[in-house]
Amino acid sequence: MKTILVTGGTGYIGSHTVVSLLENNYKVVILDNLCNSKISTLARIEKISSKTPDFYQGDIRDATLLASIFKNHPISGVIHFAGLKAVGESQKEPLKYYENNVTGSITLLNEMFKANVKTFVFSSSATVYGEPGSTQYEEGMSTIPINVYGRTKFMIEEVLRDCAQANPDFSVACLRYFNPVGAHQSGLIGENPVGTPNNLMPYVGQIAMGKLPMLKVFGNDYPTPDGTGLRDYIHVDDLAKGHVLALSYLEKNSGALTVNLGTGKPYSVLEMIAAFEKVSGKNIPYEFVDRRSGDLAEYYANPSLAKKLLYWQAEHGIERMCEDTWRFYQQVELSHS
Ligand code: NAD
Ligand code: UD1
Repeated sequence: MKTILVTGGTGYIGSHTVVSLLENNYKVVILDNLCNSKISTLARIEKISSKTPDFYQGDIRDATLLASIFKNHPISGVIHFAGLKAVGESQKEPLKYYENNVTGSITLLNEMFKANVKTFVFSSSATVYGEPGSTQYEEGMSTIPINVYGRTKFMIEEVLRDCAQANPDFSVACLRYFNPVGAHQSGLIGENPVGTPNNLMPYVGQIAMGKLPMLKVFGNDYPTPDGTGLRDYIHVDDLAKGHVLALSYLEKNSGALTVNLGTGKPYSVLEMIAAFEKVSGKNIPYEFVDRRSGDLAEYYANPSLAKKLLYWQAEHGIERMCEDTWRFYQQVELSHS
């Protein structure tokens, strides 16, 4: 049985991937400093999978801790989720983002190589593309990220490609996620941001729960069919499966792989609202306001490389994304009452 170190494994995407790894008979060691997740997620992972991952509360920038983790567990690969991800905050506090995301990743890679571990899966983002001049993003397109967060992701990708160049037996996959939404079907794990959400679906979920009054739809004058922004929303469970398939790919192939994980089918803000209203039976009041600075009208993945190389494609549509989000929100409310 192979052992995988999952950094950021109690976070949103990490926790779903840990469940998927356990279901696929991997052993899991989680390292997370809990800066954006809760320890209670561990018990929920155990409840879903009836298996217990090892857990270290600590920071990826702590080389001593990393060395002891690699010494104490027979780790064969690393899936690296740990990072900060708020675009607005990254613009205001760039050094915090470069330090945590870039320096943290380099510290992790150093300790990993010292322990002779050569398999690495990295959480990248469609945000690395910036504005490549086309709305359907392909891996070979130009990458000019337009915010600090996106630049940290792109820098780490470049570090990884350089490491692969220098070490012929290093296998790395940079997975560029589009817009992750949804939750585990059990309703036990999902995305529950602290404070007012920045992203669409957590905001809609909180309106449905009566915690927020109304959605501001950022722009209804985009050159899209209904005037609102189009995005490639992808169910977090599909994303999680992509990581397990990436590990299988890396077990057989060395070098650096960069691949989109998206559905290839974009939906507008109004379509997402309508889908959520349908599954929840709740009214989501909204008003149109000005465009949000930095937003693009439309982008979505060309996911054909993931299908060809990883044998991966998204299975869940927006109805399932909304159903699972809604189930999770109702469950969070119950568990807090
Ligand atoms: P998340 O915040 O839920 O999970 C990240 C986890 O990493 C958290 O549990 C946090 O406590 C932990 N962490 C952060 N810095 C750490 C550090 N220095 N040491 C140890 N632990 C640390 O975020 P998520 O949505 O699950 O995203 C996971 C990864 O995927 C991130 O790297 C993010 O940038 C990337 N990503 C996310 C999205 C998205 O929309 N959610 C899109 C593209 C890429
Ligand atoms: C944001 C991040 C991106 C990240 C992605 C992952 C920015 C600029 N980009 O992308 O780096 O990879 O999340 O999920 O933050 N919307 C509203 N009202 C709201 C919230 C959103 O109308 O209150 C609209 C947006 O204008 C957009 C769509 O909903 O058209 C999706 O927005 P959001 O969920 O924030 O994701 P992105 O902006 O695509």
